[in-house]
Amino acid sequence: MKITVIGIGYVGLVTATCLAEMGNQVCCVEKEAGKLEKLKAGIPPIYEPGLPDLLTSNLANQRLTFSTSIGHGVKHSHLIFICVGTPERDNGRLDLSQVEEVARKIAADLTEYRLLVIKSTVPIITQKQITTVIRRHKKKGVPFEVASNPEFLREGSAVYDFMNPDRIVIGVTSTRARKLLGELYAGFNCPKVVTTPIAAELIKHASNSFLALKISYINVVADICEKVGVDIKDVASGMGYDHRIGRDFLETGIGYGGSCLSKDVKTFASVAQGLGIDFKLLRETEAVNQDRAIRFVDKVKKAAGTLSGKTIAVWGLSFKPDTDDIREAPSLKIIPELRKEGAKIKAYDPAATASFRRAFPKNESITYQSDMYQTLAGADALLVLTEWDRFKNADIKHMKSLMKTHVIIDGRNIYPPDTMRGEGFQYYGVGR
Ligand SMILES: NC(=O)c1ccc[n+]([C@@H]2O[C@H](COP(=O)([O-])OP(=O)(O)OC[C@H]3O[C@@H](n4cnc5c(N)ncnc54)[C@H](O)[C@@H]3O)[C@@H](O)[C@H]2O)c1
Repeated sequence: MKITVIGIGYVGLVTATCLAEMGNQVCCVEKEAGKLEKLKAGIPPIYEPGLPDLLTSNLANQRLTFSTSIGHGVKHSHLIFICVGTPERDNGRLDLSQVEEVARKIAADLTEYRLLVIKSTVPIITQKQITTVIRRHKKKGVPFEVASNPEFLREGSAVYDFMNPDRIVIGVTSTRARKLLGELYAGFNCPKVVTTPIAAELIKHASNSFLALKISYINVVADICEKVGVDIKDVASGMGYDHRIGRDFLETGIGYGGSCLSKDVKTFASVAQGLGIDFKLLRETEAVNQDRAIRFVDKVKKAAGTLSGKTIAVWGLSFKPDTDDIREAPSLKIIPELRKEGAKIKAYDPAATASFRRAFPKNESITYQSDMYQTLAGADALLVLTEWDRFKNADIKHMKSLMKTHVIIDGRNIYPPDTMRGEGFQYYGVGR
């Protein structure tokens, strides 16, 4: 099939390359020309495992083309995916201006039937609003539809998730749209939930909010574990074997980050409020999460003593492993707090250093290392903020030989406490 994807960021690029891999002819429309130049040269502008190979092979077989023109994308295909950003504005309300702008531009170029598919995460009724925008701006008599097809991929395993989804949610208003999307996704062997657009929009927010709730829940259970001297890993594993609960998202630590969970929780609570429903549970979920960074900094202060003039090594800046994305990353809250206390930061991340440096330009109290062990030279403490595999597999004896003081505050519980203590470290995890 011929497909157009508008907005080539994390979701758009993965959608475009994966759909090309499935045999489709995909036109990628992106307003940042610089991104497209990189893509044409086979260089993904984001770090995502598996993406470079997919990009290279689908450039070679000419299934991917690029344009900055929405008009070109509208001409190219019947199916147009909208994957632009929907950032948070205030109090859980989303800024939908990018989606609206794209809709207006599509409308201006519509000459025959097109199915617009909203993949960006949007609150309920957006499909209806976008339908109205297009109707208002298109030429009379040109048929079109707007469908909702929320995306559930996780950064760090986005290509795998897109190709192996747990389910595909399709919110449509006609048999024609249902058939088009059914044909597109025919090669994906998973349940397909075909429903109304508003239900599809609701499924996305209800799902992400539930995942966030699970993380905040287990983090509070971890607080209880610390008080009573129990290891949260035992508790989480005892809970997770119950298939009604499940093992995923029972990892404790310094809270959820990323561009989605926090935004989606606040949006869903705000949507509920608009309907006269006080979703207290979600407000509490977010409050617990906000509290994680503060609790962690307190733990660092207790473990390392006064931080003024101390050298603190930080492993991990991205909000999760296998991504360069730092949006809402705990590192963004924790590192400024440590600096306020007078600490000198030596930071290392396998992929996110450039993004982090952009967030803190010209800062003398943070230095960035290109070697993870070099970060430890002369350090008074090590903080683990992201659970990259290379940190899990680190040479513990070598770590110890480099550090000035052998203190590890592990915000992701990647090390076994007994082993680390046995090696002579003062080791602090979360809920252990
Ligand atoms: N990142 C995730 O893990 C994830 C997962 C599921 C859903 N989502 C949702 O998907 C949407 C996109 O998220 P993202 O992380 O990919 O965002 P992003 O910021 O990485 O990408 C958005 C892209 O759209 C481009 N864009 C904006 N306006 C445009 C226009 N008029 N024409 C062409 N291109 C335009 C931007 O330049 C950018 O490259 C959001 O609604 C997000 O909530 C994200």
